[in-house]
Amino acid sequence: MNSLNAQEARDKDRSQRAHLLSIADLDRDEIEELLRVTDTFVEVGRRPIPKVPALRGRTVVMLFFEDSTRTRLSFETAAKRLSADTMSFSVSSSSVNKGESVRDTIETIEAMGIDAVVVRHKSSGVPAQIARWTSASVINAGDGWHQHPTQALLDAYTARAHLGSLEGRRIALVGDIKHSRVARSNIEIFTALGAQVTLVAPRTLLPASLSAWPVQVSQDLDAVLPTVDVCYLLRMQQERMTEALVPSLREYTATYGLTSARADRMAEGAIIMHPGPMNRGVEIASEVADRPSAVITEQVANGVAVRSAVLFTLLGAGRQQSSSAAYAANVSNELSIQTDSVLAEELAHAEEAT
Ligand code: CP
Repeated sequence: MNSLNAQEARDKDRSQRAHLLSIADLDRDEIEELLRVTDTFVEVGRRPIPKVPALRGRTVVMLFFEDSTRTRLSFETAAKRLSADTMSFSVSSSSVNKGESVRDTIETIEAMGIDAVVVRHKSSGVPAQIARWTSASVINAGDGWHQHPTQALLDAYTARAHLGSLEGRRIALVGDIKHSRVARSNIEIFTALGAQVTLVAPRTLLPASLSAWPVQVSQDLDAVLPTVDVCYLLRMQQERMTEALVPSLREYTATYGLTSARADRMAEGAIIMHPGPMNRGVEIASEVADRPSAVITEQVANGVAVRSAVLFTLLGAGRQQSSSAAYAANVSNELSIQTDSVLAEELAHAEEAT
């Protein structure tokens, strides 16, 4: 193969690789399928040995250029539950500190042999750029203000677990919309699943133009709260604010914080969500965060199953299959059989050792 053909072959391989860069890349059927596969991984997580060999021999790299607790740990847990090998990259102890570029970093990691790279970066578009440089699958774990697709999937999964279908449900996204990748991803997934989204924020924390967004907008949280099925609070992202966009945090909390009195105005059965990390006492009162109607730790727990479903679909049997409902239905059986064989293997080793 001459060098031009070799380059073409590499480009073709790259273009055929499955990535998860944005919720906008998924149609409703693909979202529904990922949520169905998530059901299976929730069930796997309840087993005595919550591990399946689906990605044995595969390597997943965590490439986090920005801080994370939930996303990073849940991707690592998900990869390990699928029996993948994992590599973790920490900017603070890497050669990025000596000036190595993102491209050289990704090519260095790829030379070690990887199948997927989970990328978080403070700049929008970096995961998409990395997808052009690597033949591995790229999963966006949050890029700047742009997208956080696995957060959106776990949020949709959690909301549906409580409300059933999201068709016609009313969801308020409250707070710092302007700087929020979670807001952008969640508006897309909630509306794709049939919900009506209302943004509640001061004008300074909204993007300059909302004409292309399928949302309603309000500055009156007290009026919106009794009408919604979900009150989704966003973190005040002080690290992304380059100017004083609210007079003070105290004034912000007085107008837009979910205080106990405001939470009492919500309808029976309505839920409170937050992607974390929370600023207790700012966007959400500490007592409200600990109410049974606040499903914040459930969101975190579902994050492992959703990320397992994403890795399995991009790298596992899902990659060779068409995205049919029949495939999703078969996943459950396949994983049951696989776990049983792992369990049998581990029991056999335990017997040999005694
Ligand atoms: N929700 C979220 O992305 O949290 P982390 O920044 O801790 O990953």
